[in-house]
Amino acid sequence: MNNLKVAVIGAGQVGGTCAQRIVERKLADVVLVDIAEGLAKGKALDLGQAASIEEYNFKIEGGSDYSLIKGSGVVIMTAGLARKPGMTREDLLVKNAAIVKGAAENIRKYCPGSIIIMVTNPLDIMTYLAYKTSGFDSGKVFGMAGVLDTARFKYFIAERLGVLPSEVEAVVLGGHGDSMVPVIEYTKVNGKPVSGLIPDSELKGIIQRTRDGGAEIVSLLKTGSAYYAPSSAVCEMVEAVLKDKGEVLPASVYLEGQYGINDLYCGVPAKIGEDGVEGIVELKLSDKESAALRWSAEQVKEGIEYLKKSGLV
Ligand code: APR
Repeated sequence: MNNLKVAVIGAGQVGGTCAQRIVERKLADVVLVDIAEGLAKGKALDLGQAASIEEYNFKIEGGSDYSLIKGSGVVIMTAGLARKPGMTREDLLVKNAAIVKGAAENIRKYCPGSIIIMVTNPLDIMTYLAYKTSGFDSGKVFGMAGVLDTARFKYFIAERLGVLPSEVEAVVLGGHGDSMVPVIEYTKVNGKPVSGLIPDSELKGIIQRTRDGGAEIVSLLKTGSAYYAPSSAVCEMVEAVLKDKGEVLPASVYLEGQYGINDLYCGVPAKIGEDGVEGIVELKLSDKESAALRWSAEQVKEGIEYLKKSGLV
């Protein structure tokens, strides 16, 4: 039997680590595609040379030619630029939009039946753009943010209480970034509501640290952004698709009226399986959380309007 195949567009920190995790989790063959051909080829070669030690038996290729992605069931999109000093959010939006658009056209050409998992920021807006450009069904295109944001939130709660992150249950909704909405009512530690374990004022601090989770790592690394946890989060979603798990994971998905939000991508719990997004879970939210989620969606909408105004979508 042929192995399954996953394409990773962008062989940088997140893309390279995704490739590593996919073969180490024994999920699929991997192809890395990057505008920097040597980077994609070099990382593929390096990962291939680890095969006998790590005991995986997968084909790992790399290059700059998009035709390499043919036959992939899942395409992970990590190509993009990070925000540099002096660059506005809008500048970044336009630059990454051009990269995502080009990639989505190639995905449509070479992998018309695939599932696209978006990572490039600003996440929810780039996911909308990939959906529109690829022409795929909305369920076949979704973004990774909630799994990462939830994992960060769980980590900080676990650290505060001296428990394992796996003992924490949590849900984070909304757009990726400043407007994310951790839902306190659904946050539990070994089944106990977190609100009874951590004082409100401290919880607020933890929520803010989660929102700033990416920025905190950027300020420590100085020359890049987070990639271990982001690539783990991506692989969780890849595995849900390839193994048709039908697992409910927080994802940036296309909403058509759910949570009162229409025609945009935003983070909510979704059932992920071999067809991509197979269902959306509508949680009961407090008025405050509903309002926060709608505000978050407004931020995404503004970005989409900007893309439309710039003629990119
Ligand atoms: N086609 C293919 N690859 C491209 C293109 C393109 N048009 N433009 C840029 N790239 C590649 C770069 O050459 C680089 O290797 O995308 C890669 C991005 O890697 P890093 O700069 O290491 O960024 P990384 O930390 O992996 O973050 C990836 O995740 O958090 C988001 O928005 C962030 O876009 C970033 C993405």
